[in-house]
Amino acid sequence: MNIVIIGTGYVGLVSGLGLAKLGHRVACVDTDESKIQRLDMGEPPFFEPGLSELLHDMQNTGHVVFTSNIAEVLADAEIIILAVGTPPGRNGEADLSYLFTAAESIGQNLEHEAIVVVKSTVPVGTNRQVIDRIRSVMKERGRDDLSPLVQIASVPEFLREGSALQDFMNPDRVVIGCDDEIIFMILDRLHDGINGPRLMMSVESAELSKYAANAFLATKISFINEIANIAERTGGNVLDVAKSIGLDKRIGPHFLKAGLGYGGSCFPKDVSALRQLAGVKGYDFKLLSAVIEANNRQRENFFKKVESNLVNLKGRKLAVWGLAFKNNTDDIRDSAAIDLVQRLYARGAELVVYDPEAMANARRVLPDGIEFVATPIDAARGAEALLILTEWPEFRGVSWPTLLDSMVEPKIFDGRNLLADLDLAKWGFEYHGVGI
Ligand SMILES: NC(=O)c1ccc[n+]([C@@H]2O[C@H](COP(=O)([O-])OP(=O)(O)OC[C@H]3O[C@@H](n4cnc5c(N)ncnc54)[C@H](O)[C@@H]3O)[C@@H](O)[C@H]2O)c1
Repeated sequence: MNIVIIGTGYVGLVSGLGLAKLGHRVACVDTDESKIQRLDMGEPPFFEPGLSELLHDMQNTGHVVFTSNIAEVLADAEIIILAVGTPPGRNGEADLSYLFTAAESIGQNLEHEAIVVVKSTVPVGTNRQVIDRIRSVMKERGRDDLSPLVQIASVPEFLREGSALQDFMNPDRVVIGCDDEIIFMILDRLHDGINGPRLMMSVESAELSKYAANAFLATKISFINEIANIAERTGGNVLDVAKSIGLDKRIGPHFLKAGLGYGGSCFPKDVSALRQLAGVKGYDFKLLSAVIEANNRQRENFFKKVESNLVNLKGRKLAVWGLAFKNNTDDIRDSAAIDLVQRLYARGAELVVYDPEAMANARRVLPDGIEFVATPIDAARGAEALLILTEWPEFRGVSWPTLLDSMVEPKIFDGRNLLADLDLAKWGFEYHGVGI
């Protein structure tokens, strides 16, 4: 099939390359010309395992092209996928301006029938607004005849950064929200070669499915963090509790890792957007307010733990391992690590930071006074405490005697419980995890 994807970020690029790998002809469109230039030269604009290799392979097959000119690629499009950002607005609502701008450019340029698929995460009712915009722009330019032939479908994306390609090809399910069986069959065919059951439902249910999934996962994270806080006060160990409840098939083991709470470009904004949507509809979604509050408090708790142990942060030399919002990505959007580094710096701490992939992005947002170094041990040299803020597996591979020799005070504050099972006390470290 001929596919146009609008928005070449984490979701759009991964989906575009994934669909090209399945044999479709894909044109990826983005308004960010520098991104398109980099992609044209075979350079991925962000880090994602396997992305660079797949980009080269797909460019060699000629199945994928990159452009910032939507008009030139729409001419052949059978399916147009919207994957632009829907960042948080001022009151927690989803900002749909990128989506509506993209919808307008479809309306201005489309000259034949097509299916428009919304992959961006959007509040219930947005798909209908998108198709209304497209059709009204078409009508304004005298194409009333064509506008009913453009159809809408909601196919939300559930991939996770850090394993995005793997997730795209092997999703737990493909949700297809649409109004009729023919659209479903065409979109089912689009996904030929992608594993996972297909679920046909209404557009509204598909939109809500995505928010419900993220809100539920965020709730699990806040729940286990609350248990961690109780464990700290009662002498329990949250790792044992999580293992025990995770073996219960009704609960499952995933998203039961106590730590600094959730961050990233999706959970915080989607939980807020769902709560805000509920509010607009006259419903007070109290559970989500508690989830958000618990998540914010988790960062604060960690900060206080470090501060009360070190007594005064001013002039204290701290090593930081990890800046990305989670491992295997360079994404720092709403990263707990970035937030904590900024707070510690504001209190006068001297910070030396390291992250395997996210340092270029972090440099753009962190103050100049923060030192970036090339290895975890370089960060720890002369430090009075080490803070682990992202769960990169490579941190588990450092030499503990070398780390001990490098630090002035052998204190480790592990915000991700990454090293909790390693019994670092036996090497002479003072180890502080979360809920243990
Ligand atoms: N990042 C994830 O892990 C993830 C997972 C599932 C769903 N989502 C959802 O998918 C959507 C996209 O997320 P993302 O992380 O890929 O965003 P992103 O910010 O990485 O990428 C969005 C891209 O859209 C481009 N863009 C904006 N307006 C445009 C326009 N009018 N025409 C063409 N390009 C335009 C931007 O330049 C940018 O490159 C969001 O709604 C998000 O909530 C994200």
